[in-house]
Parts: sequence; structure tokens; C-alpha cells
Amino acid sequence: MRLSMAKPLLPSPRKRTVVLISGRGSNMMNLVEAARAPDYPADIVAVISNRPEAAGIPWAKAQGIPATVIDHKAFKGRDAFEAELDKALTALDPDIIALAGFMRLMTPPFVTRWQDRMINIHPSLLPSFKGLHTHEAALAAGVKIAGCTVHYVRPEMDAGPIIGQAAVPVHSHDTAETLAARVLAAEHRLYPHALRLVATGKTSVRNEKVIISEDVNVFCPLISPGLAATN
Ligand code: GRF
Repeated sequence: MRLSMAKPLLPSPRKRTVVLISGRGSNMMNLVEAARAPDYPADIVAVISNRPEAAGIPWAKAQGIPATVIDHKAFKGRDAFEAELDKALTALDPDIIALAGFMRLMTPPFVTRWQDRMINIHPSLLPSFKGLHTHEAALAAGVKIAGCTVHYVRPEMDAGPIIGQAAVPVHSHDTAETLAARVLAAEHRLYPHALRLVATGKTSVRNEKVIISEDVNVFCPLISPGLAATN
């Protein structure tokens, strides 16, 4: 009699993820923390900053994560900087590049080379309030709901297929600082979730829109100002 043994299911390898930063690096730190969970589908294999003074670099090193600076100011132009960045990335062989406060616009050839493997977080509900000073712009517009967006990177700044968004209320007495803090807390919830979706292959881009397989439908409207204010 022959006994047939079921093949053990091999866990899919964690997706090699490189995080690009320019400064504080709180989103990068948050992704690193999320990736500590053994069942998290992405592994943060390196951190690269284009600014030598980025606070996230010593932090990543202290965690044992390879962290390097490629100072854009040390290069003659954008192309030379990107060639060096591309060399470093190619050597790391990433499945995913996660921009987290990376404050450098990239040329179309660079973006196209990493198309659909490069994602970004932006502190507004895109397509509203692209660019810098998003919280000031949201307050000036008088919107009652603000938030953040994770999207695939495209050559146009703060554009590209949207993977996920998180919304927060805007309060009447908000300043750019109080709103930024609330949005940042939402960013820290959204980015690990969005990276998980990408790393598990649940996102695909069709006609420049992201299709999520196994969409979870929760009906949970954020109403701002809260209903209690009128009751
Ligand atoms: C975040 O608000 C992010 O959305 C934006 O830049 C900021 C970076 O913050 N792109 P940190 O460096 O991750 O703390």
C-alpha cells in the first residue's frame, strides 16, 4: 500500500520592499514595525534617503536595516542622481518600492522603469490638493473631510492609480498642524494596509484604476461634522 502525503503548503516569499525617504521617516518606521509581524507579506530590506540629515536613516540602521544616503545634491543633475538611485535599487532587487515622504520628483523614464512596483503616500484625498501644503489648502477650501491616499506612482506628480484612501474629519478650529497630525495618524493606519494588499497580489491596475480582489465592503460613512453636533 502506498501512502500519499499531502505536500506542505509553502508560504509565499515576503515581497522585498525598499522604502525611500527624505526626512522624519515616521511612515517608514511604521512600515518597518508592521513588517515585524511574521505573517506580514512584505519585508523592508533597505531604506534609502536623498537627504543626509534624514532622521529615519540612523533609526533604520539601529534596527539593523541597511540604510543608505544618495544625496541628490552630490550629482550634476536629475538624470545622474536617478542613475545612481536606479543602480542601488537594481542591486537590491525590490518587488516593491514604497515612497514615504520622498521629496524628489522623478523623471518619466525612471518612473516607467519601476511602473506598478512603486507606490507613494500623499497627505490628501487625491485628486484634491496635490503638491505641498496640502493641509493649508484643505483648510482654505473649507472641506469638512480630509485624509490621505496611497497610489501607484506615475510621472505626473501626486497622480496614479489609487490603491487606498483614509478619511478624517476637519474640525472648525483646526490649524494646519492639528490637521496634519490627524492625517498622519490615518497615514500610519493606511500605508501598512495598502502595502499588504499590494504585497499579497490583491491589487491590479486596469485602465489606470486599481482593482482589489476580495474587496471588503464595510459601510461606515464618515460624517463630518459628527452627527452629535446636530442632535
Ligand atoms: C507624510 O505626510 C507623507 O504623506 C508625505 O510626507 C510626509 C512624510 O512624513 N508624503 P514621514 O517622513 O513619513 O514622517
